[in-house]
Amino acid sequence: LVKVAERLRNITYAIRDVYTIAKEVAKTKKVHYLNIGDPGLFPDSFSTPKYIREALAKATLEGNNLYADSLGVPELRRVICEAEKASKNICLNIDDILITQGVTEGIMFLMSGLAEPGREFLVPGPGYPAYSNYITFFGGSEVYYRLDEEDEWNPDVDSIRKQITEKTQAILVSSPNNPTGGMYSEKVMGEILDLAAEHKILVISDEIYDKITYDETCVSPASIRKDVPIVGMNGFSKAHMATGWRLGYMYFYDPDHKLKELKENIEKMARIRLCANTPAQYAAIESYTHPRDHTSRLVENLRTRRDYAYKRMQELPELSVTMPKGAFYMFPKIELGTTWKNDREFVIDLLKETGVCVTYGSGFGKYGDDHFRMTFLPSVNELEQAFDKIDIFLKSRRQNK
Ligand SMILES: Cc1ncc(COP(=O)(O)O)c(C=O)c1O
Repeated sequence: LVKVAERLRNITYAIRDVYTIAKEVAKTKKVHYLNIGDPGLFPDSFSTPKYIREALAKATLEGNNLYADSLGVPELRRVICEAEKASKNICLNIDDILITQGVTEGIMFLMSGLAEPGREFLVPGPGYPAYSNYITFFGGSEVYYRLDEEDEWNPDVDSIRKQITEKTQAILVSSPNNPTGGMYSEKVMGEILDLAAEHKILVISDEIYDKITYDETCVSPASIRKDVPIVGMNGFSKAHMATGWRLGYMYFYDPDHKLKELKENIEKMARIRLCANTPAQYAAIESYTHPRDHTSRLVENLRTRRDYAYKRMQELPELSVTMPKGAFYMFPKIELGTTWKNDREFVIDLLKETGVCVTYGSGFGKYGDDHFRMTFLPSVNELEQAFDKIDIFLKSRRQNK
């Protein structure tokens, strides 16, 4: 048997088992996939805008099919700087931008440069699993800080403060958050930045959902504090509904030149993998230079679905949920009682009985227990069918008590 390296063997993908069960269930009943955060799975409502797809076709027909600059096509990096300035008043220049194959590669690059045994990273719990996966892959340790459901899923700043040690390398902020749909308030983000400044800790900001917000705009750390080093990450997957293009970027906001060494070394990683997708980079320029209103349409479509799902959730006594402020996820708490042992058991019972497929909360790290995550990407019609089934399912479990 070929021996696999420990670092790869240690990677766990907690939510995979649900997918395997869903495939089995799909043989006998309709499965409602409320588990995957890809808008393009619902093409009747969401698809990569035509003008961006046309720009991709044009880019390849015009011959942009070769390796690009490892750091990214300069014109794309330039328009990203302009966009960050216009939307968030963050001052960057082209050398501060590195084009990546999605935010995921940005996380991997960062952790390749920062994580090693003995180094800790404060990450939100519940939070996106790739953070802790890459931290442990490179030998570091994740330390979860608590997102507080009672405070609209804002981070509990005390939980961050108490866990900062001399081993802490960075605080990762993720707003709007996956899986909670919560956003960090300006006050809380400010307090986190104060802590980072006091302890001289890097802030890493995952901004992939920053354009998908419902009631207020989201706060980016580099727009409110000008003296803390911040690495921001963003991409084209969600707001442009182009998850398969694998395109994103990192920016190094570095007012006091603290990130020079990190950035130079991460650029080596970028060179090793040659470049991000070249035609996609040219097409992305078009989305900046001739922007259309597809993201605001996406948000309006999602708002209707969010409001509907929230209303239905309110009618179910076993579930309680905080209204999401951004992204396209809800993270309800389950009253497990004596019916289910834990959130995983609830999710599998629901899936097998009704075909409604959601993701169990404990798969999102510490503080995710007793919850599940569902997307509200499907049409209201499909959400209605799914909620009708959840309703019947919960009633039947209540009667069996
Ligand atoms: C919080 C968060 N960050 C990053 C990603 C991945 O982004 P990308 O497609 O740019 O790699 C996701 C995808 O679901 C996400 O939810």
